[in-house]
Amino acid sequence: MLKPLKKAVLPVAGLGTRFLPATKATAKEMLPVVDRPLIQYAVDEARAAGIEQFCFITGRGKTAIVEHFDVAFELERTLEMRGKKKELAELHAMQQEPGTVMTVRQQVPLGLGHAIWCAREFIGDDPFAILLPDDLMQCDVSCTAQLAQAYRETGGNVVAIEEVPMDRVNKYGVIDIAEDKGRLVSVKGLVEKPPIEEAPSNLTIIGRYVLMPEVIGHLAKMEKGSGGEIQLTDGMAKLIGTQPFHGVRYEGRRFDCGDKIGFLEAQIAFALKRPEMAAQVREFLKTYV
Ligand code: UTP
Repeated sequence: MLKPLKKAVLPVAGLGTRFLPATKATAKEMLPVVDRPLIQYAVDEARAAGIEQFCFITGRGKTAIVEHFDVAFELERTLEMRGKKKELAELHAMQQEPGTVMTVRQQVPLGLGHAIWCAREFIGDDPFAILLPDDLMQCDVSCTAQLAQAYRETGGNVVAIEEVPMDRVNKYGVIDIAEDKGRLVSVKGLVEKPPIEEAPSNLTIIGRYVLMPEVIGHLAKMEKGSGGEIQLTDGMAKLIGTQPFHGVRYEGRRFDCGDKIGFLEAQIAFALKRPEMAAQVREFLKTYV
């Protein structure tokens, strides 16, 4: 019997150097797209996939992320007194069950694999999702829910994948295809940021995963990979052959909000999806292009 997917790990301990100086004193994950921070989109996406327990991997300067999901008592009282019902409802909707959010500190950002290893006590023996909040997803069905569905079909590990132009594969984790079945691709190998001429395909892993707890044992070896960091991709690669491993061509769009251009594009794309502002945004865009 497959264990249900109820846990998610959200690594937010990175330095966000591509966004300096904005990220000098503010977490990258707190940068807003339209009117909510990146981290909230990720949590909402996970909740839509049936995730009930959350673990944030935090670091220095990331306390605002934890505050964001706490109850803001004084603020709520003030909104109540001013009759701001809509705003209050919005805050209530994002409130988590007490005891379902935990944080773990990754004191030194040694890499994504190391960040996930820091969540080992939270993960225990359970399957878990990973969401990298700087990959912002615009999907009709939550991207994590699409992965959860694939997990129920195949069991084992599933990662969201997308095709990129061959000349950009060296920026991503790349999969070596065993069998391409369309929506699902069975995986026979993984390599992090390969030189373009050595890349096994142009199918790359984006920041959404459902992994089995056995990956922790591999990450615990603390082997350094690409860029001298402890890479999640290397830990995942060791699972192949011992457990099912699939890529899922998710339906939707991804915005790389760790990158300035991706972040700006996300602002426009998400604003255009908001009925109350789409017309105005379309109008002012015309004056710039
Ligand atoms: P990035 O590669 O985007 O790194 O990390 P970064 O430090 O956040 O940003 P740049 O490249 O310096 O601008 C991908 C994800 O992995 C997390 C990040 O928080 C982000 O969600 N991460 C990365 C950690 O939690 N710990 C690490 O040691 C490295």
